[in-house]
Amino acid sequence: MATFVMQSLGCEVAALNTVHFSTLQSGLHPNPDSQEMTGNHTGYRQFKGTRATAQEISDLYQGLCQSNLTDFDVMLSGYAPSAAAVESVGTIGIDLQQKAEKKPGSFFWVLDPVMGDQGRLYVNDDVVPAYKKIVPFADLILPNQFEAEVLSGIKITSLATLAEAVTAIHRIYSVPHVIITSVQLFKLSQSGSTPTPPENFLTVIGSTTRSDGSPRLFRVDIPALDCFFSGTGDMFAALTVARLSEAVTAAGDNLRATKSWVSPDIVAATDLPLAQATIKVLSSMHSVLERTMESRNAELAVAVPAHNGDLTTEEQAKRDYLRQTKAAEVRLVRNTRVLRDPKIQFKVQDW
Ligand code: ATP
Ligand code: MG
Ligand code: NA
Ligand code: MG
Repeated sequence: MATFVMQSLGCEVAALNTVHFSTLQSGLHPNPDSQEMTGNHTGYRQFKGTRATAQEISDLYQGLCQSNLTDFDVMLSGYAPSAAAVESVGTIGIDLQQKAEKKPGSFFWVLDPVMGDQGRLYVNDDVVPAYKKIVPFADLILPNQFEAEVLSGIKITSLATLAEAVTAIHRIYSVPHVIITSVQLFKLSQSGSTPTPPENFLTVIGSTTRSDGSPRLFRVDIPALDCFFSGTGDMFAALTVARLSEAVTAAGDNLRATKSWVSPDIVAATDLPLAQATIKVLSSMHSVLERTMESRNAELAVAVPAHNGDLTTEEQAKRDYLRQTKAAEVRLVRNTRVLRDPKIQFKVQDW
């Protein structure tokens, strides 16, 4: 998901896979009309393949080093299958940072601290302290609500605690940029003048610190689609890499300068390159996910046509099978055009 998204947006990518799970590539799909990459992953509960060991991850990186292939502008790190693997990824990020300091240009580490969702961890407990050790070396992190709670130690129950969690992340890890990729704001207790979106909305919260370490918060409300997707965290992260690079360049800055803070003369949080990038990221996300849901619904309707009366056991089984297999897969390849060139449909607001 991440590789394809970044490549589609013009990034040259050296991909280092931390897992190798059963995957059907374009053209090998059981349905030849749908040229999609269908990735099997742990969400299916049944999958085949291997997890990379810490040693394999560092070996691959050594392979790049020995041929001087480490001149990267950005590193995006995502799911790592063990605490030791997280440590290996950390070692790579730190090494790339040190290499970058010796030359002009920039290096920027976008770290997605993949640990869990919906109130529970889906990695081993020891992955949490491993992430806490490496987050201080990252430039931007992309936790979901649960991961933000784990990293900050603050349970997000209100608008105030949400802001506290972001502030704590900046402070504890001195990480200059944070995006919490989705919060259901209407579920939090309200206070103050911040308007709450209706129930069927998700809110994305971002912040770039000021030079004194205090947060500059912005938010974007997006309509929640009535469909479960998988891979959206990776898609969000990959789009962010591409769009933030564009936004920082447009602001006449470079990613290296953003290490402490982006353009100190930018006063409004909504003018931050991170905020401008987020708008574009979410527009692409929404365009592709909307089309994914339409395709999914059309496929379900063909496979199990609606009729008067309840679905038979057989129809229900077929529908469940489809939901389990293709239903959640993001239809990415066929929607490359809107991925690259989305209609900008959201507004960034001050916190
Ligand atoms: P993942 O569960 O894939 O690891 P995540 O938990 O890290 O993802 P989320 O916050 O769940 O990240 O989702 C990332 C983005 O995906 C959101 O910002 C949003 O743009 C999009 N998204 C996910 N689900 C939906 C949905 N049902 N409707 C609209 N957008 C969605
Ligand atoms: Mg999620
Ligand atoms: Na996320
Ligand atoms: Mg995630």
